[in-house]
Amino acid sequence: MPEILLDDKAYTGADGETVLDTLTRGGATVPSSCRSGVCQTCLMRAVEGSVPAASQKGLKDTLRARGYFLACQCTPTGTLRVERPGAEAGRLAATVRAITPLNREIVSVDLECLDMGDYRAGQFINIFKDDTLSRSYSLASTPGVDPHLTLHVRKVAAGRVSGWIHEALQVGDRVAVSQPLGECFYLPSNPEQPLLLLGTGSGLAPLYGIIRDALHLGHRGPIHLYHGSSHRDGLYLIDELRTLTHEHANVHYHPCVSREEPSGDLRRGRVVDVAVGDLTGLAGWRVFLCGHPDMVQSAKKRLYLAGASLKDMYADAFIRSAA
Ligand SMILES: Cc1cc2nc3c(=O)[nH]c(=O)nc-3n(C[C@H](O)[C@H](O)[C@H](O)COP(=O)(O)OP(=O)(O)OC[C@H]3O[C@@H](n4cnc5c(N)ncnc54)[C@H](O)[C@@H]3O)c2cc1C
Ligand code: FES
Repeated sequence: MPEILLDDKAYTGADGETVLDTLTRGGATVPSSCRSGVCQTCLMRAVEGSVPAASQKGLKDTLRARGYFLACQCTPTGTLRVERPGAEAGRLAATVRAITPLNREIVSVDLECLDMGDYRAGQFINIFKDDTLSRSYSLASTPGVDPHLTLHVRKVAAGRVSGWIHEALQVGDRVAVSQPLGECFYLPSNPEQPLLLLGTGSGLAPLYGIIRDALHLGHRGPIHLYHGSSHRDGLYLIDELRTLTHEHANVHYHPCVSREEPSGDLRRGRVVDVAVGDLTGLAGWRVFLCGHPDMVQSAKKRLYLAGASLKDMYADAFIRSAA
């Protein structure tokens, strides 16, 4: 059985068990959130022994070269001596500059992080409640346009981090955050390409960043944004998005509600159904999908069948942390 050595203590792994499971089963405290290889919260460093390549997928080359790996994706075959991440993989200090309600259950949080460096609208950061508890939130801000990093955080019932953000976090507080992560962002490689953005709930966060980033970088092709919620009061930033359509003839905004009769220009139905009904043939479109993992998964299939290419689909599924 593989042995994991951490802080001079040995933890014996079970067959097929990940380093994260072995350590937490043995009582060690290791931060984790998605347990799916997405959020990188469980980053650790192997100082003796080798880790499978799959556990280093998505890491920067510099981290990979130094033996960093994702504990939730690492099923070791031999003994490993591991460490918690050092400063080079480290956390950055940020200050809360504003907290603003966007609707009944979502707040916008503005963070000033002087060391963040370059980021892309639509990437995400991890925000740490304490040394061991963190969650991922997408960036709704656009570099070069917005002065601060902006997150849209939905309050989840009994949510440890979203509840803390909604109830305890104050303007002026200092918090630790990660470097920006993720590949769901706009590249200005083809400014004429039609763009389709689909999101539900706080899945609007990355899309709001991406749409303004694309416009800031001179995108000229049509851009269709479908934002959905079960009810009207789950939608937000409606006026801001309508203003974008007035300022840019290529922007089309479609707010959708799935469980009530729509009023005004609201559309009835799930975002993917409304979009597929509107747009005939998606060959050649670039697609961004953000929000609930089931919505993202089923929309991917529908849009592929409607002609969109998988290589032109960028998705940010808001995977739940393990309870
Ligand atoms: C890449 C990525 C980007 C994300 N971006 C955003 C974002 O921009 N905005 C945002 O609001 N969230 C986002 N999330 C989700 C976020 O990271 C947290 O999972 C969410 O805030 C819940 O964390 P919590 O600690 O409050 O709840 P927890 O304490 O982890 O969970 C409390 C309880 O709620 C359940 N639960 C957890 N998540 C949900 C959920 N989404 N819906 C219903 N029940 C749930 C759990 O199973 C548990 O029973 C993102 C996730 C990922 C992986
Ligand atoms: S990547 Fe391991 S917990 Fe998210």
